[in-house]
Amino acid sequence: MFSSRFKWSLASNRLALLIEEKRRAGARIFDLTESNPTRAGFDYPTEEILAALAQAPAMLYEPAPRGLLAAREAVAGYYAERGFSVDPERIHLTASTSEAYSYLFKLLADQGQSILVPQPSYPLFEFLAALEGVDPRPYQLNYVHPAGWQIDFDSIDAAISNDTRAIIIVSPNNPTGSFVKVREVERLNAICAKYDLALVVDEVFGDYGFEADDRRVASLVTNDAALTFVMSGLSKVLALPQMKLGWIATSGPAPLRDQAVERLDLIADTFLSVGAPAQHAAARWSKLRTALQRQILNRTRDNLIWLEKTAENSPCRLLRVEGGWYATLEMPRHCSEEEWVLSLLEQDDVLAHPGYFFDFPREAFLILSLLPRAETFREATGRILARVERS
Ligand SMILES: Cc1ncc(COP(=O)(O)O)c(C=O)c1O
Repeated sequence: MFSSRFKWSLASNRLALLIEEKRRAGARIFDLTESNPTRAGFDYPTEEILAALAQAPAMLYEPAPRGLLAAREAVAGYYAERGFSVDPERIHLTASTSEAYSYLFKLLADQGQSILVPQPSYPLFEFLAALEGVDPRPYQLNYVHPAGWQIDFDSIDAAISNDTRAIIIVSPNNPTGSFVKVREVERLNAICAKYDLALVVDEVFGDYGFEADDRRVASLVTNDAALTFVMSGLSKVLALPQMKLGWIATSGPAPLRDQAVERLDLIADTFLSVGAPAQHAAARWSKLRTALQRQILNRTRDNLIWLEKTAENSPCRLLRVEGGWYATLEMPRHCSEEEWVLSLLEQDDVLAHPGYFFDFPREAFLILSLLPRAETFREATGRILARVERS
């Protein structure tokens, strides 16, 4: 009855069952998996945000494959503020970055063809790719302490085959927090030219770097050396995931770039999924960016500094984080990740994600969201470190 794309078990795993049990028993869970900014106690200018949705032009249905020009100009304005000149005619609005991925998979790959995905990374790739009938083939990011994460180019070479269509870059990556570097982009462009591949670049956390670094690429939105699709959206840029507005900005050598834009027009025209109120609101919302991002950056930086200090003299090791909303804590290996996560929840009411959730190649890592309020974050991380000391 159902498509063979659907290959996942719908049964709850042990962790999900334990969370349910804890919640039923009324336990207060110190949640270090919280990545929903609207639940993390930030001070949103609610009236301004909602008033921007109530504009009269939103009563008109104006179907436009790329999205309304005013909203695309707001996206171009966002890049201009960051020093990049982007033509609004090469921007396609989508309901989310996840939808942007699905458009790009439809654009680039036939059924069964492969797209290279970083590992460790964002756990949704497997689902996004499988639902489009595309094969997500991993390449590795390697960690060297304290320098940080870097692309393993040998693993890219090994993963590329005749049916490979694109390489995905997440910068900064979720959850490693690593930015792609200028020298890495040069090599990626050369690989794309050699094998005729596109770059699909997820920059949703691009504004959340902790410290400046000249080796880093701030955005690939003007990368012309390869066919390049940069994706982002308001879910992270303005911490408004519920407003459902993302985008794809296409660049690269002409005429390839223009052919891609035309084909994306057709895909987007088939769905027309972005609501008018959000598109009309985009320009007004974008003025709130600095204040919202400052709150988030202050919170995530403070939490990270706290964790650095408290983990320093512990048996745990905090991996280098350059940006984003997550930290990775390496745990002593006498327990598996599963055992750490279950025992922390069971005994300490602390919820964290295991590294395997993000396809870390070995154990034992915990992924901690840096978004929670300081008191929650400190209590939770304090409990983790106390548990480690006792174990
Ligand atoms: C790296 C990365 N890309 C994309 C997304 C999805 O963003 P959106 O809400 O725009 O679909 C997330 C969500 O956490 C993410 O971590």
